[in-house]
Amino acid sequence: MKIPSIPTRGRTLDHAAAVYDLLEPLFLLGKQAEYDQHIIRLLDPAPGEQVLDLGCGTGVLCAQIADLLDPKAGGLAVGIDAAGKMIAVARKKRAGAGCRFEAMAAESLGFEDRSFDAVVSSLFFHHVPLDLKASALNEAFRVLKPGGRLIIADMHLPTTWMGALVSKVSRWFFLQPQIAENTRGVLPDLIQSAGFREPQIVGYYFGYVAVFYSEKP
Ligand SMILES: C[S@@+](CC[C@H](N)C(=O)[O-])C[C@H]1O[C@@H](n2cnc3c(N)ncnc32)[C@H](O)[C@@H]1O
Repeated sequence: MKIPSIPTRGRTLDHAAAVYDLLEPLFLLGKQAEYDQHIIRLLDPAPGEQVLDLGCGTGVLCAQIADLLDPKAGGLAVGIDAAGKMIAVARKKRAGAGCRFEAMAAESLGFEDRSFDAVVSSLFFHHVPLDLKASALNEAFRVLKPGGRLIIADMHLPTTWMGALVSKVSRWFFLQPQIAENTRGVLPDLIQSAGFREPQIVGYYFGYVAVFYSEKP
C-alpha cells in the first residue's frame, strides 16, 4: 500500500528508499553495526520502555532497539520518517509487535506530551534546515517524559582533515546547506535551547559524526 510522504522542508529520501539498505553501509564505511551498537549501549533500554527514533529511514536502528524491548511489558520502539517510501520499506522488513513505523515529520510529532522514555536519532538532523532542527528538538523535548534520554548521532564539527574534507564534499555534492549548519557546530546550543541538559559528546565517528547524550530535566 502506498504511504503518502509528509510535506516538510527537510530533505526526504523517498527516491533512495529502495536502495538505502545497500548504500548506507557503504556511506558508513562498514562501521554501521559498531555505530548502531554504540547508540544502543548508551540507550540501554529497560524492557518496558517506549523509544522514539526520529528520521528512522528503513528502520534498522529502531528494529534493533525493539529487539531489546518486551511488548508484553509495554515496551515499544516507534520510528518516524517524513518519506512515505522509507516507512513502507521499514514496515515491510522490520515492523513487529514491539516495533511500529509512522510517516510523520519530526518537527510536528503526533504524539502526546511525555509519552516516551527516550528519543534517538541517527543522521537525521543534517537533513533539515536550522529552524526545523530547533522545532524537532522542541518536539523531542515535549514528547519525552521528565528524565527521558536524548541520543543524537549526527554531523558536527570535523575533528580530522579527512572529516573536514568529507563534510565539505558532501555539502557541495548533495547541494545540502543543512550539512554546513551541522558542521559549524550548531547542535549542542539547539539541544540546550530546547530545554535539555547540556549535551555530552560521548563518541565521534569518521572525524565528523558526533554522538550526543542529554536528558530532559
Ligand atoms: C540519512 S537518512 C537517516 C536514516 C536512518 N536514521 C539511518 O541512520 O540510516 C535521513 C532521513 O531523514 C528523513 N527526513 C528528512 N526530513 C525529515 C523530517 N522533516 N521529518 C522526518 N524525517 C525526515 C529522510 O527521509 C531520511 O530517511
